[in-house]
Amino acid sequence: MTADRKPKIVALTGAGVSAESGIMTFRDSGGLWENHAVSDVATPEGFARNPKLVWNFYRERYRKAIEASPNPGHYALSRIEEMFGERFWLITQNVDGLHQRAGSHNVLEMHGSLHTCFCTDCLRHYPTKEILDQNPIPYCSACGAMLRPDIVWFGEIPYHLDKIEVLLQNCDIFLVIGTSGAVYPAAGFVMTTKYMGARTLGFNLEKPLNSNFFDEFVQGKTGDTLPQYVKRLEQAYCNTD
Ligand code: OAD
Repeated sequence: MTADRKPKIVALTGAGVSAESGIMTFRDSGGLWENHAVSDVATPEGFARNPKLVWNFYRERYRKAIEASPNPGHYALSRIEEMFGERFWLITQNVDGLHQRAGSHNVLEMHGSLHTCFCTDCLRHYPTKEILDQNPIPYCSACGAMLRPDIVWFGEIPYHLDKIEVLLQNCDIFLVIGTSGAVYPAAGFVMTTKYMGARTLGFNLEKPLNSNFFDEFVQGKTGDTLPQYVKRLEQAYCNTD
């Protein structure tokens, strides 16, 4: 099959795809939101109240992310990019950077990244690794204001929404992977793509809240189910016989 006849595929990933790398999800039992109040560590108001607490939380998450390694689910997605090139894009709610470490390039990090932070005043960006030693709160070397994690908190607008909208409107296949369907706007993407006529597939341990919009649901760990799905794609679109 020639490249231009391959379908356009978009995948949305959530915390479930990194669970097998040892990164905690948010809403599963023992997940991050069981031990931390969202209002304390994931809102601009929480940061204004107690920046030290917020920095401790994200510094710890950054350390866990760099200690973790991508798992077969991440590698399966980078393999899809290898096969489909620019016809495959990955939208992730994850901030751990594991997709890129598995070799994916066409990645939109809609909730930001643990690997960068920025100045609350002049908006200058810094790699987190450069400011890690500044305890308890890092400050901007240019203007002296406080830095904050480059994470989209509740009440803030996710990144890349314009580009995401175009991808959703134009894809043929939409994959929803390891996400509970609890947080909008990401949870609504499957509705848009289904209404636009894409085939929608969900990959999750259990049926997420928005599973009514899936044409097909593949239950299981993404470390198992995604490599199997890649084989299906290889057979359907990359058979060189
Ligand atoms: P959640 O913790 O809400 O959901 C993770 C989903 O992954 C659950 O439905 C699990 O059943 C599933 N899961 C767990 N392990 C899995 C595995 N090995 N294979 C497949 N599925 C598995 O995480 P998200 O949906 O990503 O936002 O959460 C969305 C947003 O809420 C996050 O980006 C974060 C959070 O508040 C911000 O911080 C802005």
